Amino acid sequence: LIHLLSTEGLSKDILTQILDTAGNFVSVNDREVKKVPLLRGKSVFNLFFENSTRTRTTFEIAAKRLSADVFNLDIARSSASKGETLLDTIDNLSAMAADIFVVRHSESGAPYLIAKHVAPHVHVVNAGDGRHAHPTQGLLDMYTIRHYKKDFSNLRVAIVGDVLHSRVARSDIHALTTLGAAEVRVVGPRTLVPSDMASMGVRVFHNLEEGIKDCDVIIMLRLQNERMSGALLPSSQEYFKSFGLTEKRLELAKPDAIVMHPGPINRGVEIDSAVVDGPQAVILSQVTFGIAVRMAVMSIVAGNEA
Ligand code: CP
Repeated sequence: LIHLLSTEGLSKDILTQILDTAGNFVSVNDREVKKVPLLRGKSVFNLFFENSTRTRTTFEIAAKRLSADVFNLDIARSSASKGETLLDTIDNLSAMAADIFVVRHSESGAPYLIAKHVAPHVHVVNAGDGRHAHPTQGLLDMYTIRHYKKDFSNLRVAIVGDVLHSRVARSDIHALTTLGAAEVRVVGPRTLVPSDMASMGVRVFHNLEEGIKDCDVIIMLRLQNERMSGALLPSSQEYFKSFGLTEKRLELAKPDAIVMHPGPINRGVEIDSAVVDGPQAVILSQVTFGIAVRMAVMSIVAGNEA
């Protein structure tokens, strides 16, 4: 693996290797992550052209725990605001001896463009591109599911909400189907579920109660207001009434079902606070596991080089 751009096309063996490697960075109490010298002498550049709390910070922590040097480009204050192109920015940072670019961009495909452009010894990790892919989120979601449920083969997983605008949903679907989940469902209003879902091997539901019935895992998605035009955008109250996950609705899933969410959460829009703060939510564990998973990804793409 030279770059990580998508979970699509990754083999079961590679996905499992990443999850197993992440497991080696997690200690027995599941929270502490060891510091290791695997990327000593390497430079990681975080390039977040879109805002982020979890992904940017956990990539920085992960790089530091791998003993790399980390640089966070402040995009708003960078010369991108003066019109410097993406690839000119990359060339200039490459001239500062970058080894890994971690890239988030609102344009789907931007990390691919960079990966095609950089020298062969430079690695690109997609930290979310448009509505296309968010592979490290997909991988940390798989790590979390495996942690709580052990085996994918018996699992019924529902991905609920604004699937249309969700790069997380696509990355999760590719990973879940490759890892052999028994059933993957997407659940959402007709306007927010894209038409290609059935061809991705998932079952589509437009009713929340039916969609989460007897599920082992429920992955809630944020309503991505920033990617919607007025016509698509439902009111928050309307949306919560039909698709908000409440404690009562959660009773329809298996009693030991886990509730996940990539964050940021809109409490009272796609999910009730009582569920976010309740015993079945593993949302903050996802964040913690994200450190180990990002350590695994960066060590696999760049760790074997002199
Ligand atoms: N899950 C996720 O990508 O969160 P951030 O946008 O805060 O990085």
